[in-house]
Amino acid sequence: MKDFEFYNPVRIFFGKDQLDKIKSQISREEKVLILYGSGSIFRNGIYNNIKEELKDYEIFEFGGIEPNPSYETAMKAVKIIKENKINFLLAVGGGSVIDATKFIAAAVFYDGVDPWNILLKGETVKKSMPLGVILTLPATGTEMNMNSVMTRKSTQDKLAFSTPFSYPRFSFLLPEAAGSLPKRQVANGIVDAFVHVIEQYLTYPVNAPLQDRFAEAILLTLIEEGPKVYSNPADYDAMANLMWCATMALNGLIQCGVPGDWSVHSIGHELTALHDIDHARTLAIVLPGLWTVLKNEKREKLLQYGERVWKISGGTEDERITKTIDKTVEFFESLDIKTRLSDYGVKQDTIDKIVSRLENRGMILFGDRQLVTPVIVRKILECQKN
Ligand code: NZQ
Ligand code: ZN
Repeated sequence: MKDFEFYNPVRIFFGKDQLDKIKSQISREEKVLILYGSGSIFRNGIYNNIKEELKDYEIFEFGGIEPNPSYETAMKAVKIIKENKINFLLAVGGGSVIDATKFIAAAVFYDGVDPWNILLKGETVKKSMPLGVILTLPATGTEMNMNSVMTRKSTQDKLAFSTPFSYPRFSFLLPEAAGSLPKRQVANGIVDAFVHVIEQYLTYPVNAPLQDRFAEAILLTLIEEGPKVYSNPADYDAMANLMWCATMALNGLIQCGVPGDWSVHSIGHELTALHDIDHARTLAIVLPGLWTVLKNEKREKLLQYGERVWKISGGTEDERITKTIDKTVEFFESLDIKTRLSDYGVKQDTIDKIVSRLENRGMILFGDRQLVTPVIVRKILECQKN
C-alpha cells in the first residue's frame, strides 16, 4: 500500500427527513446565496422546502448555472456576491451547480490577474467562501470532495481544480429529490460513479486488499441497484443506494493508499468540451478503448475485476479480458449509454484535435504510470471510432 493522508471534513445528512437540520449549519449572521441550475429545483419542490427552512435568513438567489458549468456564468455570481456582501453559498442541484459554486467561492477571494488561472495554470487557492450543498443528482461525488470541473466557453476548455478550501461545510443528500430525474441523468449518474471507482481501482496491484474490496463493493452495488433505479427513478431505496454509492465513489476513501489513473476523465473532458457530450457518456466511450489498448499494462487488475465483479473465470487470460470488457460495455449499453464515437457523430478530425490540444497543454504523459501519451490517446479514440 502507498503512503497516504486522508482528511474529509464534510458533514453528511442523508435521507428523507433531514432538511430541517439545515438551520443548525448556517449561522443567522450569514447572508446566504442560493445557487441553482435551470429550474429543476422548482419542479421537484426542493426550492420551496429550502425557502421555508431558511425563512428567517437573509437570502439571495442566483439561477441559470448550466450543465458543464461555465466560467462566464460563474463570474456573474462573483459580482453579485461582492456587491451584496454575501458570505455563505448554498448550492442546490447536481454536480454542475456544486462545481460552479466551488469555483465562485474561490474566485471571490482571488487576487491575481484572472481566476481562470486557478484551472489553466494551477494557481493555488488561498481562501474560499464557505459553502453548503443540497444534492439532487447522484453522480459526481462533488458533494463530498474538494474537486470542481469548469468550462470556459470562449476557448472550449474544460478543466479541473482541487483545493481543500472547496470542501462543503455540509451536504444534504436527498434521494427523494432525485426521484424527479429524467432517466438519461440517472444512467449518467450510474456510469459516472462506476468509472470513478474504476479510475482508482483498475490500475496495478499495490497489495491494498481493503481498498480493492471497497471498490468492488461499490461496483457490484451499482450493477445490482443501477438497473432498478434506471427503470424507476422514483424507487426511493434504489435511488438511496445509488446516491450513497456515488458519494463513496469519489470522497477520497477508496483512493487511500492506491494509485489513481484519471486518464479516462482527462480524455472524456475533451469530448465534452468539443461536442457537448454528457460527461458520463464520454467515459463510456473512452474506457473500453483504454482497456483494449492498455490491456497488458492493466492485465492483473482487469483479470481481478473480471473474476470478482463479473464472475469470469474460464478461458485464457486474453479471452477473460475480452469478456470483461464486453460485459462492461453491455452494462453501459443496458442503460442506453452508447460507447462508440460514431454513435455521437464524432469523426477523425476530433481525434486529431484532441491529440493536439493535449500536446499543446503539455499533457504528454498521464494515467496511473504516465503511460498515456498522445500516441496512446489516438489509439484509444481510434479503437472507439466506428
Ligand atoms: O439545471 P437543473 O435545472 O438543476 O437541471 C439539471 C441538469 O439539467 C438536472 N437535474 C439535477 N437534479 C435534478 C435534475 N432534473 C430533475 N430532477 C432533479 N432532481 O440534471 C441535469 C444535469 O445536471 P448536472 O449537474 O450537469 O449533472 P451531474 O451531477 O452529472 O454533473 C456533471 C458535471 O460534474 C462534473 C462533470 O464534468 C460535469 O461538468 N464532474 C465533477 C466532478 C467533481 N467535482 O468531483 C467529478 C466528475 O468526474 C465530473 O467531471
Ligand atoms: Zn466523472
